Parts: sequence; structure tokens; C-alpha cells
Amino acid sequence: MPETTIFYTTKAQDIAQSLSQSLGVESFEIYINQFPDSEWYVRVPEEAPDTDVIFVHRLFPNQNDSLLQMFFILSEFSARGQRVVLVVPYFPYAKMHKKVMSGEVVTARSITQWLSRTVEKIVTLDCHFIKREGAVDMWGAHFFNLSAAETLLNIARDRSEDPCVVSPDEGARYLARGTTEHYTLKKVRGEYKYGGAGFQRYARTEGRLDVEGRDVYVLDDMISTGGTMAKAVSLAREAGANSVVAMATHGLFVRGADKKIIESGADEIIVTNSIISPYSKVDISPLIASYFSEMKEKD
Ligand code: R5P
Repeated sequence: MPETTIFYTTKAQDIAQSLSQSLGVESFEIYINQFPDSEWYVRVPEEAPDTDVIFVHRLFPNQNDSLLQMFFILSEFSARGQRVVLVVPYFPYAKMHKKVMSGEVVTARSITQWLSRTVEKIVTLDCHFIKREGAVDMWGAHFFNLSAAETLLNIARDRSEDPCVVSPDEGARYLARGTTEHYTLKKVRGEYKYGGAGFQRYARTEGRLDVEGRDVYVLDDMISTGGTMAKAVSLAREAGANSVVAMATHGLFVRGADKKIIESGADEIIVTNSIISPYSKVDISPLIASYFSEMKEKD
């Protein structure tokens, strides 16, 4: 790997510092402030060496502001002619990756296409529109999609002799690959609501769970409003599970999602620190660090 410097925003300081230590690479914080009229002020230290860049940023919460900050920072690296690998543990707008109604803007593609012109590679985790681990080219951008699934599943294996894994919908099935006992539930979509916010509602979750007396781990890529997870948790409870743990890579916890999941019968919620929350019990920094270490060895 050519000489590299890490740059980070304050909200990604923990990951950047851990990466800096593991890779033995210097790191620099990017200063961000707001003008009185709410526009962003950004300063990317110029005393840092003129090398390739690993830029670490969190894009949630406040994804719209965080994206704009990212845009300004990446524009500065471009102006300086520096090559950038972007590390964003959670990729926002990922659920808007296809048109459902005509005229809808595929915002996941818009962001990706813009990034494809600005960065060499995007390193992210369990990205909703990729759904597999490894190197993937999409909409002109080179992604490396890491997965926290194995780390989460190892928690289940450590805690229970015979854990039973449930995917709350078909899209999440890939996360549970390699597990011995595994059920996939089916999300049945309801009517598409188009109002102040356009979104697709689902009516119900279907599927039979033969989990009486078992320790159940429901594993998804993300918990947003908690509806998907809560439905799977209550089905496991109704089927007589001994314990139910709600697990996901990304915990957005929108609109009281955590309360909803606990009330549906979960004993515990476990997510990673891709987004920081009280339920972030898995640190993703080692996953990111080992990706870069492997890249370094290959060069
Ligand atoms: C959907 O396909 C995703 O994998 C998640 O299941 C979904 O985004 C979770 O959203 P919510 O928590 O709002 O049900």
C-alpha cells in the first residue's frame, strides 16, 4: 500500500483511532463547525502529509448534514489531488435503491454515482443494497462490503449451546449463512403509501418457527423503526422460545424502536457501533482494521 494518512470527523474518532493504532498510520481530525446561518465550516488540516487518504466518517445520525460534510471534505481532497478510500460503516439512503413508483429518484444510486467520481473505494458494512460480503462494483463505484454477521453469530454460539437463528425477512437470509439451524420469515408487503413521506408499508410477517424451548437470535442488517424485528420477535415468543435476542448490524432506533422490540418480547438487543447507541455491544473497528491490514499485505 502506498503511504497513507487517516483523516476523520469527530463522530468517527473511535474507529479512526483504532485503525490508526492497528495500521501504525498517522491520523488527523477534520474540524467542522457551523456558521450562524447554519452553513458548514470545514477545515482539513494541511500540515498532514501529502499521501493517499483513508477518510473515516459516520453518516448517521443526521445523515443529510453528514452527507453534505462528506461532500465538502471529499471535494477538498480532490482539489489537493489526493486519492481517497472512504470508510462509512453505515451507508444511508441504501433502502432507496430501486424505483417502486415512476419518477422516484433512486437516491442510493445518486450518492454512489457522486462518490464514484470522488473516491477510489467505499468501505462499508452490511450495505442494504449489496447483500453480500466482499468487493462489489455498483453504479460505477468500487465497494468493499464488510459484514458483522459472523461476529454477531459468534455471540449467539458463545451464549447458547444450540442457538436458533431467524431472518426476519428474505433479504436478511444471507447474513445467517453457515448456521446450522435457521428459519427465514416472509415479509408480506402492504399498500404503498405516498404522502409527506413516501414509503412502502408491509402488512404482516409470515412463517412457521419451530423454536419451542430454544434460544432464538433474530438477525437483520438494520433496525430502523423496529417493526420488522418486533414482528419476528413476537412470532418467536408465540412459538414458545426460551429466550429471544434481537441482533442487527446497524441500530438506527427511529421512533422508539427499542421500546417496541423489548415490548414484543425480546430479552436483549445487540447491535454494532456502526451507529452509536446504548445497544452497541459489538465494536466494528477490528473488522475494518483487518480489511486494511490484508490490503497492505497484498501490496
Ligand atoms: C429491510 O429490508 C431491512 O433489511 C430491515 O428489515 C428494515 O429496514 C428494518 O426496518 P424497520 O426497523 O423500520 O422495520
